[in-house]
Amino acid sequence: NIIPVILSGGAGTRLWPVSRKAYPKPFMKLASGQTLAELTFNRAMDISSDGSVVTVTSRDYYFLCKDLYKKHPQCDLDKQTFLLEPMGRNTAPAIALAALQVQQMHGDDAIMVIMPSDHLIKDSVTFNSTVQQAAKLAAEGYLTTFGIFPTAPETGYGYIKAGSKLNEQAAEIASFVEKPNLETAQQYLASGEYSWNSGMFCFRVGSLLDALQQTAPDVLSQSRVCFAQTDTSGTQIEFDANLFQQLPDISVDYAVMEKASKRAVVDSRFDWNDIGSWNAMASLSDSDESGNRIEGKAVTVDSENCYIRAGDRLVAVVGVNDLMVVDTTDAVLIAHKDKSQGVKDVVQFLKAKD
Ligand code: GDD
Ligand code: MG
Repeated sequence: NIIPVILSGGAGTRLWPVSRKAYPKPFMKLASGQTLAELTFNRAMDISSDGSVVTVTSRDYYFLCKDLYKKHPQCDLDKQTFLLEPMGRNTAPAIALAALQVQQMHGDDAIMVIMPSDHLIKDSVTFNSTVQQAAKLAAEGYLTTFGIFPTAPETGYGYIKAGSKLNEQAAEIASFVEKPNLETAQQYLASGEYSWNSGMFCFRVGSLLDALQQTAPDVLSQSRVCFAQTDTSGTQIEFDANLFQQLPDISVDYAVMEKASKRAVVDSRFDWNDIGSWNAMASLSDSDESGNRIEGKAVTVDSENCYIRAGDRLVAVVGVNDLMVVDTTDAVLIAHKDKSQGVKDVVQFLKAKD
């Protein structure tokens, strides 16, 4: 019994000014006109055993999510459960609460597939078969990750070292290191022994709750308190802000995956793009003969390797290279393309000024 759990929480501050608190990354339109939230829901519906999906998101995004889900031809809204957070407490509590909900609905043997809502995966056939592989291991009690072939010493990812083989496509995890520093990431990449953690996971509900008890008992006990005090009978489940605030703010990677004992990694051969920054977004559009990538209306003169995302206005650049220009009605971003990680500092700065 496979139950997808969609996580939709982060504000995606590296995609400012398009991704905003009121309208974050999963809901912003891609060049195709679709949103990541819709595409993630499509993937979830493909793997769900009975058309039900659990979504953990901020209560501010309930209607945004529901409206997008409704567009799916097979979507039965009565089967969609929303766990609505009054504030973000990171992925460990979000997943713990989802596990308690799925346990209540389907028991300890249900298999949860955790799916962040900000990934782009096009090869659905390979994705679906990989999930089936992961589900088998999860049923045996392995906390299962999806390993992605690493192509750069990214410091924003988790790194998985494979141990003894479990089958052709999967191995036990020898070590899991979340967000190593650059030097370490470079060593990992050079060693050829590591894959990136995709951020998706496959867990048997009972195994995950046991692992939480071992590695993060405070997350589990606070989640149980919060869950017990909440009306969890319907499809729109709202947590009390005072109780929710007491949940530890920690990601599942640090809280569970780095420490748990029975873990596996499935070699994932589908395309995977974590749309984490404007660079990642740019890589989705084709470049012209000067290396410029353009979304919307733009003119480039004597300029190379620029990414331009125009909003309602025409954008023109002359004699510049390696720039990212993102225009919206009330804010413009101009950044060097090697600095796409720094965009989040703009949001920090604006927040501090508020
Ligand atoms: N509902 C909910 N509530 N969702 C959340 C919350 C929260 O409080 N915090 C984060 N999320 C969602 C995000 O929206 C995203 O879809 C997913 O959980 C992962 O959170 P990120 O904040 O984007 O994590 P990360 O990118 O730093 O790291 C994770 O993903 C990497 C791959 O993209 C880790 O799992 C890394 O190990 C992994 O490599
Ligand atoms: Mg992320």
